[in-house]
Amino acid sequence: MTDDARTAYDVVVLGAGPGGYVCAVRCAQLGLKTALIEKGALGGTCLNWGCIPTKALYAATKQIAHARTAGVMGVTFGEPSIDLAKLAEWKSGVVSTLVGGIATLLEKNGVDLHEADGQLDGTGRIALSTGDVIEAERIVLATGSSPIEIPGFSFDDPRVWSSDDALALTEIPQRLVVIGGGVIGLEIASIYNRLGSSVTVLELLPEILSVIDLDRRTVATLKRALKAQGIDVRTGTAAQSVEAGADGAAVTVANGDPIPADRVLLAVGRRPNTAGLGLETIGIEPSRGGFLAVNDELQTAADGVYAIGDIVAGPMLAHKASAEGAALADAFAGHGMRSFDHALIPQAIFTDPEIASAGLSETLAKERGHEVLVGRFPYAALGKALGMREPDGFFQVVADANDHRLLGAQIIGAEASELISEAAVVIEHGLSLETIADAIHPHPTLPEGLKEAAENALGKAIHTINR
Ligand code: NAI
Repeated sequence: MTDDARTAYDVVVLGAGPGGYVCAVRCAQLGLKTALIEKGALGGTCLNWGCIPTKALYAATKQIAHARTAGVMGVTFGEPSIDLAKLAEWKSGVVSTLVGGIATLLEKNGVDLHEADGQLDGTGRIALSTGDVIEAERIVLATGSSPIEIPGFSFDDPRVWSSDDALALTEIPQRLVVIGGGVIGLEIASIYNRLGSSVTVLELLPEILSVIDLDRRTVATLKRALKAQGIDVRTGTAAQSVEAGADGAAVTVANGDPIPADRVLLAVGRRPNTAGLGLETIGIEPSRGGFLAVNDELQTAADGVYAIGDIVAGPMLAHKASAEGAALADAFAGHGMRSFDHALIPQAIFTDPEIASAGLSETLAKERGHEVLVGRFPYAALGKALGMREPDGFFQVVADANDHRLLGAQIIGAEASELISEAAVVIEHGLSLETIADAIHPHPTLPEGLKEAAENALGKAIHTINR
């Protein structure tokens, strides 16, 4: 190694997903000399194999569903035809536009991008697969997560898909069996159902989406909708293995007959990418689950080494990783560290109907010692929703009964993912139900539903019976 192959930085970030690239850009904006190391594609899972491709396919396949059912509005199309190659090309175009955007952001903000595999090589050093060594005062690990396998299912088996395989869009299987009724399983089940696959979802636990703090009513509403769409959801069902069946493959389960399948999507969770990072060279090791322990400043047990996103505690969400990355950069620049309450981080699930939540559920709010006020409002009572032919779902707010501070909101229904941010702002800033209820909302719009739910909690809703 020659001296000139060594470069010293204020900050080096390992991993260019939504945690890492945001952290790097913000560090550079704040005047820190910053490098970003990425061995794969800029944007990580979110842009390339997660949030963005699923949303592109979500939007495209919703068109199919709308076209199939618009007859009640007096608008009739022929049976939609799907050009899978064109759909895949369009989705990839969306992804590459965004990936290109990150490259530009890095360049314009003066972040040095190293396209290489990086490994910790002792305190303050990262060795690159190119042979270079980078030195930095601070190192941020943002290496994300990967889909996990379970006994009986291997991603090496061509019949078994990871979410990456499903989003590559190479075929529309006639029968798709989805293992795992979590967020990934249900989003992809919905996409393939709209593409025409016959979809069965197997969930080990007694309830779907049980790893998320959702109200039972919300989950029950989703289950009814999935059933109506023809998705067969079987809870309390442990998938055991994939075997050759008489006609294609079959998934064996602990408590019933094998379920025939042409493809099997394994979506049973993700594991932090912390193996092979050279953590031993700085004297730290991950937990059994692969996570790194960090303190409130997101620092690991090693001086000058920080970790963000999917490899640390909290929900595995892009916006959580980005928020941590930006907060860390601010702290590095001397602006103080922002603290996070993981339970308050908003989430959007792109099933049909969508589900979105922010803050605490009614149950969690009570567990935290709050006496609560709850308000609800159905989509079916919103003029805009009826005009959109989207009457299913409801808005729900939970507030502290004493000071009316909004503690949480859940929305299940059309555009829930877009509608939750109003509640997220109010919750984040400790504001009250009245903040929403007293603000004039334009009519006719979907956000009126949140205002009505807040009014309902206060006992003054006009368009529903007050509780
Ligand atoms: P998950 O943890 O949400 O769900 C996995 C499900 O698989 C669990 O319900 C579990 O009980 C079930 N399971 C495990 N073993 C099983 C077996 N043998 N048979 C049947 N079911 C079994 O994990 P998922 O869906 O893979 O998502 C991973 C992460 O990615 C999550 O943290 C999620 O929040 C995040 N994500 C978030 C999105 C969003 O917010 N829109 C979209 C995609 C991912």
